[in-house]
Amino acid sequence: MLNLNDPKLFKTKNYINGQWCASDNQFAVMNPATMEEVAQTADAGPDEILRAIDCASEAFVSWRQQTAKQRSIILRRWYDLMLENIDDLALIMTLEQGKPLAESAAEIHYAGSFIEWFAEECKRAYGRTIPTYAGDRRLQTIKQPVGVVGCITPWNFPAAMLTRKAGPALAAGCSVVARPASETPLSALALCELAERAGLPPGVLNVVAGKDSYGMGLAMTQSDKVAKFTFTGSTGVGRKLMEQCASTIKRISLELGGNAPFLVFDDADLDKAVEACVATKFRNCGQTCVCTNRIYVQESVSQQFIDKLKARISQLKVGVGTEPGVDIGPMVNKRAVIQVQELVDDAQKKGAQLLLGGEGHSAGPCFYQPSLLVGVDHDMAIVREEIFGPVAAVQTFVTEEQAVAKANDTEYGLAAYFFSRDIGRITRVSEALDYGMVASNTGVFSTEIAPFGGIKQSGIGREGGAEGMDEYMEVKYHCIGGVDC
Ligand code: SIN
Repeated sequence: MLNLNDPKLFKTKNYINGQWCASDNQFAVMNPATMEEVAQTADAGPDEILRAIDCASEAFVSWRQQTAKQRSIILRRWYDLMLENIDDLALIMTLEQGKPLAESAAEIHYAGSFIEWFAEECKRAYGRTIPTYAGDRRLQTIKQPVGVVGCITPWNFPAAMLTRKAGPALAAGCSVVARPASETPLSALALCELAERAGLPPGVLNVVAGKDSYGMGLAMTQSDKVAKFTFTGSTGVGRKLMEQCASTIKRISLELGGNAPFLVFDDADLDKAVEACVATKFRNCGQTCVCTNRIYVQESVSQQFIDKLKARISQLKVGVGTEPGVDIGPMVNKRAVIQVQELVDDAQKKGAQLLLGGEGHSAGPCFYQPSLLVGVDHDMAIVREEIFGPVAAVQTFVTEEQAVAKANDTEYGLAAYFFSRDIGRITRVSEALDYGMVASNTGVFSTEIAPFGGIKQSGIGREGGAEGMDEYMEVKYHCIGGVDC
């Protein structure tokens, strides 16, 4: 048993219709840092997903009738409880996911911020009055919740990716059935316990964990009771889920893979660029969709930048996330380590030079050394594919046009970063980059108050910001006739 202040937050059963439900089977949740078992968790499947959808469908009837203010009060209470229990929630996350405790605590703040934000936003889900086209008519729109929402959430942000979907859905008046990644179900289940304490009625939020990702996804995507489906994960899986949603013409939001470029121009503040590059490259051990994947440095400053980057990466402390001062935890599993190794080997075979790391770390089988490759080019898999690991891969460019062309040469379009102090260039480059999110002179941009999402094969829809609520609401046009009668 973990040493939690509130042991009741450690939940290993699924949460359906306000009940904690056991299953005939269990699966092990492993700590990737120590390879020890954290918990045996109820292993649900498609049948439980369908039951949860039925319950959510019933609960929707009364939840949608609550006023925005009533929903807001419950969500706000949920947010407060998350912050009150931040130490326990962070510990649960670090044990199942591996990220350092400070990063887990930051994720709980981030997760909570979506609940806080949408608790406010729902009170501002305005419709419109449209100037009429005929004297006997009046035209207006109202926004209404779409209905039951199916969510599939990833292991890299076990709390924030749930709240970034469930927050706006619940605020809009929808009910939710979520399947968390089987690597990290405990954070999502702990959040259900707090949602219940906050007063969320039974059936409004259901979390169903299980190993059968295909069957559970199919049950959600093909159910005609699910009005909206939302997924965060790889582009390959997203494409399949999108196909499955076609049979019921479901509304969808997909937050998929990225291949973020990080451009450093010769007028950049190199020290700040290095700090930002390390922050975006090594966050969550390189396992975020918006992590820098390709680093392009203007030739005249490339050696200086590489020297500084090497020095900074060398300072990163690798270890078990519960130990003090650790910057980089383990990767999610051994398979992930092998995949990163293959990318590094391929790059070296094709001519890249390894300046740091390049192999597993002695801390354990899921750890990989923070690594630095230079002399990388576009033929290498490490440039074309999402690395999803702690490897910085640097190449150079000569002109601004060349940098932008290289940055855009990918089927992905999630996030891009660049450093420059020239206001003309900042404007030109930000407009020319084909990405849903562009950050200049910073490596950290995620916030609940701005829209997060990609273009091209990085996804559809936006999460967070004012836009985030619209994903869960239908606009109804009401034409009022007979006004002159
Ligand atoms: C992600 O990796 O999908 C989320 C990262 C973020 O919200 O900053």
